[in-house]
Parts: sequence; structure tokens; C-alpha cells
Amino acid sequence: MSDLSHTLPVATGSQGLDMPLVEAMMTQRAIRRVLPDPVDDAVVLKCIELALRAPTGANGQNWEFIVVRDRRVKEKLARRYRMAWRIYHRTVIRRVAARDESMAKTARAVQWQVDHFADIPVLVVACLRLGVRDGRVPYTPMPQAIASGYFGSIYPSVQNLLLAARALGLGACLITLPLWSATSARRILGLPLSVTPCCIVPLGWPRGRYGPTTRKPVEQVAHLDTYGNRVWLTESP
Ligand SMILES: Cc1cc2nc3c(=O)[nH]c(=O)nc-3n(C[C@H](O)[C@H](O)[C@H](O)COP(=O)(O)O)c2cc1C
Repeated sequence: MSDLSHTLPVATGSQGLDMPLVEAMMTQRAIRRVLPDPVDDAVVLKCIELALRAPTGANGQNWEFIVVRDRRVKEKLARRYRMAWRIYHRTVIRRVAARDESMAKTARAVQWQVDHFADIPVLVVACLRLGVRDGRVPYTPMPQAIASGYFGSIYPSVQNLLLAARALGLGACLITLPLWSATSARRILGLPLSVTPCCIVPLGWPRGRYGPTTRKPVEQVAHLDTYGNRVWLTESP
């Protein structure tokens, strides 16, 4: 593998993987507009390697990451993304965006990503193999617990990937709309039925800069012991 320092753009001012964890967490956000400039395998594999430090149910490590660089594959996924976005925009987003400027801004960024999807240098498709270990399903028969245990085994790794990308100065974003039809996604990516595509992280050097994120204050979402006991809340939300 090549030396990561050769691939890091000076303009990002990135401290690389030495970036303090809190800084990475506080500034990691959905970066959809990225340059078509190449991103080395070494950088992508480093992000995935760090993703693999995450926990999985019963330590199953039943993840697979498809690194998509082939333009023809990206174009096929782009078509699926465009279709899903058109429906989602018409039925949900357009109405919200009409009265909420931050949603309108997000919608413009998503539209940019949809329009330029095949130009994005790398798409990492995070997948899960069925949760079977040693011929046994290591989950209780409760459907909700199964669902939580199943998809919950990919998202910690994806968050690690996003944080690693942030520290390296790469633009990244967790997206699911191109996978609206798992059947199409499986066909496009050559996935067997036993492998479920869960989300995609497009990676590229950012066109803009990382801006601040807007999130709810902790007092609004933290409850003591039972739901509704928001003892840390001093003002009404
Ligand atoms: C489960 C999940 C699915 C998402 N799917 C998409 C998607 O299909 N397309 C997209 O542009 N963003 C998608 N996002 C990104 C969110 O829109 C984004 O994280 C959110 O707006 C916060 O943005 P910020 O980090 O820039 O503040 C998804 C995020 C999550 C957690």
C-alpha cells in the first residue's frame, strides 16, 4: 500500500488520522458535492480497515464492502438513485423544502449528487451476510430484535468509516436511496441472495469545506430513567 501522506490534499488543512476524536465527531457531516479527482485505494482501504474496528452482533463480522470504481456500475446505481429520489422528492421532500430553507438546501445537494453520481470517484457499498454463524441464527426470535441486531451490525462500522473519511479530509455521506430495490442492487453488484446491501458511502475530495452541523441539544433528547423525565431540560423544546 502507498503512503497515505502522498494522497492527502494540503488545502483541507487536515491533521489526518491524528485529528482529535471530538473534532472529527463535531465536524463530520454529509458532504455530497465532491471532485472527480482520484482517491487512492490506500485511502479507501484505510477507511474500511478502521470501519472494521466496530462492533457486530455476536462479533459475527458478517460485513462485506464493495468498492465501486467502474463507471458502468456507478451509472447503473445512479439510475436507481435518480428514480428513488424523484419519487421521494415528489412525495415528501418538495413539500417540506417549500417552507424549510435547510431542507431546500439539502435537496439541492442531493440533486447535485444524483446528477453527478457516476463522476464520484468511489462508492463504498456496505453489505451484510445473513446473520448465520456455525449454521445457527444467533438472535432471539423477536422480529424487532432480529431487525435491530441485523442492521445494527453494519451502521457502527459505517460511522467509523465516515469519521475516518472526515479525518482524512475526504467528503463522504451515508446514503440508502440507490438501494431502494435490493433486487436491482444485488443484480448490479453481483451480490448473492445471502448478502444484503445496506447503504452506500460515496467518497471524494470535497468541493467545498466542512461546515458546522446542526443538531438538537442533548437536554432535549435525554430522559432520566423513564421516557418523558427530561430533568436536564430547562426551557421547553
Ligand atoms: C439511514 C440514512 C439514510 C440516508 N439516506 C440518504 C440518501 O439516500 N441520500 C442522501 O443524500 N442522504 C442520505 N442520508 C444522509 C442524511 O440526509 C444526512 O445524514 C442528514 O441530513 C444530516 O446531514 P448533515 O450531517 O450534513 O447535517 C441518509 C442518512 C441516514 C442515517
